[in-house]
Amino acid sequence: PDGRPLTGRSAVVTAGPTFEPIDPVRGLTNRSSGKQGYAIAAALAELGAKVTLVSGPVALSVPAGVERVWVETAREMQAAVEAALPADVAVMSAAVADWRVDGVASGKIKKAPGGPPSLALIENPDILAAVSAPGPKRPGLVIGFAAETADLEANARAKLSRKGCDWIVGNDVSGEVFGADANAVTLFTRDGGAEAWPRQSKAEVARKLAVRIADHIG
Ligand code: C5P
Repeated sequence: PDGRPLTGRSAVVTAGPTFEPIDPVRGLTNRSSGKQGYAIAAALAELGAKVTLVSGPVALSVPAGVERVWVETAREMQAAVEAALPADVAVMSAAVADWRVDGVASGKIKKAPGGPPSLALIENPDILAAVSAPGPKRPGLVIGFAAETADLEANARAKLSRKGCDWIVGNDVSGEVFGADANAVTLFTRDGGAEAWPRQSKAEVARKLAVRIADHIG
């Protein structure tokens, strides 16, 4: 009714790192500013979508018209994403920690003369693969990210089929990307398509992706 292409549509976007505690004062995390994911949430909202942004710990404010759900761990992120489904589109841009610590210490681990403790790690759920799995709540369009330092196309295409998503945004992170305001990406689609977008602002990448999404589902 308001003429925007995603009015009446819903989106779930993950962004930022996850934080996996070791003890009350330490943790494992990934490098991610959350800027690209936040920009995508903002761009989808600008096109009229109802957006749930599931965010790990970042220093960014909530974009206008977006509902943010704040999480720390991968398991919290997965629960928040599942609670936001069904949705028309899922964009999984978070840098999820692949492992968490098995048996988080309830008190601070003290430095001991015997040397450092060893950490037992267990695998975290793959949220993108879970959302992409066939079922009644699977979004019509599921988009993942592939941050690679080499062989972008081969790695992104392998990820596309391994995870079962529809599109992958391949991200060359060999240059300055983390925390930066610009990004160079290639959009790979399941039907074999590949579209390279030269280095431009994360806001511009987000707007382009939102327009592609609107063209596809709007
Ligand atoms: O396997 P890899 O981490 O390289 O895959 C990256 C893509 O998968 C990103 O879209 C990321 O948000 C998603 N992912 C996820 N849950 C994980 C690991 C990655 O949703 N546990």
